[in-house]
Amino acid sequence: EKGGYDTFMEKEIHDQPQAVADTLLGRTDESGALVLDELRISEEQLRAVDKIIVVACGTAAYAGMVAKYAIEHWARLPVEVALAHEFRYADPVVDERTLVVSISQSGETMDTLMAVKHANEMGALTVSICNTHGSTIPRESDAVLYTHAGPEIAVASTKAFLAQITAAYILGLYLAQLRGGSYAEGAQAVMRDLHEIPGKIEELLTRMDRVVEMANFMADTRSVLFLGRNVGFPVAMEGALKLKELAYIHAEGFAAGELKHGPIALIDAGQPVFVIVPAPDTPHELHKKVVSNIQEIRARGARTLVIAHDGDEDVVPFASEVIRIPQCPPLLAPLLAVVPLQVFALHLSTAKGLDVDQPRNLAKSVTVE
Ligand code: M6R
Repeated sequence: EKGGYDTFMEKEIHDQPQAVADTLLGRTDESGALVLDELRISEEQLRAVDKIIVVACGTAAYAGMVAKYAIEHWARLPVEVALAHEFRYADPVVDERTLVVSISQSGETMDTLMAVKHANEMGALTVSICNTHGSTIPRESDAVLYTHAGPEIAVASTKAFLAQITAAYILGLYLAQLRGGSYAEGAQAVMRDLHEIPGKIEELLTRMDRVVEMANFMADTRSVLFLGRNVGFPVAMEGALKLKELAYIHAEGFAAGELKHGPIALIDAGQPVFVIVPAPDTPHELHKKVVSNIQEIRARGARTLVIAHDGDEDVVPFASEVIRIPQCPPLLAPLLAVVPLQVFALHLSTAKGLDVDQPRNLAKSVTVE
């Protein structure tokens, strides 16, 4: 059942091209327009939406943070991302024009379920992005958009994360199409780009030898930092979470722009720092800004483990290691950039002799508050 792999997590990492492909399947008609019949919320109600709040926990919340950048850009709707347990007991501003999108692999996370119930009580429209048919959260929601990642067994989420980003992107593109704004036409082009992602993940998975070697060398490491910007910021958070869960190593993700507001004080000789570099064509010269962050931390002795697109030569002078990912449009890069971080955490856990699929103190679905 592990498909020839040693652990479920390794299998699930390799399932990712399929998880993305299956989640994309059947979402467009012959003309390439998005169709989300399964959503069961009228177009009129969706057109009236004036704000989105994503509620989720852990990795699912990071998928929401990635989606925020894309949905705001495409659909021109404000998107907030709330940790479900914080949302429920805050005093969120929600009404019938608010679309509350929950994201959950299991569909049973109690914190997320309570947030959805709270949103329902306040009259919001609720949509669940979920991987488990017949689970509680979709049942409690007005509508559901299933991710088709297949069963995820390992406690550490991998393929569900990619499928969640994919589904949230589909929702964002659908809203863009529905609202008919300046991006409505771009939606079909993005769908075409998304369809190329599974092949690129496939290719990326063949390049992981050096990442495995790095993990094996680093079994004694006590702290690892992760930096990213824009959609790379939640990828940094996710990379850090994987390492905490799987290898019990202190790990933190930062927005690269925050460095000089505090975290750069953590950098001393030999400190490993993964940096997720934006695609070179990311707007607002973010690529250049992150490259200069690499330069700054390198000058202070950091070991810079740089994740950069094929052909990006600007990072080379400042990188201790360069991990290459295939080229893709800037907003789709998280679907690739997170993969080496998953592989790194998996192999560091293995190198330390830990239980990859069942890390200490954790459960696959957290059904208590
Ligand atoms: O089943 P859910 O997606 O609602 O679970 C949410 C989190 O508990 C989950 O993503 C958790 O953070 C994972 N262990 C991360 O690898």
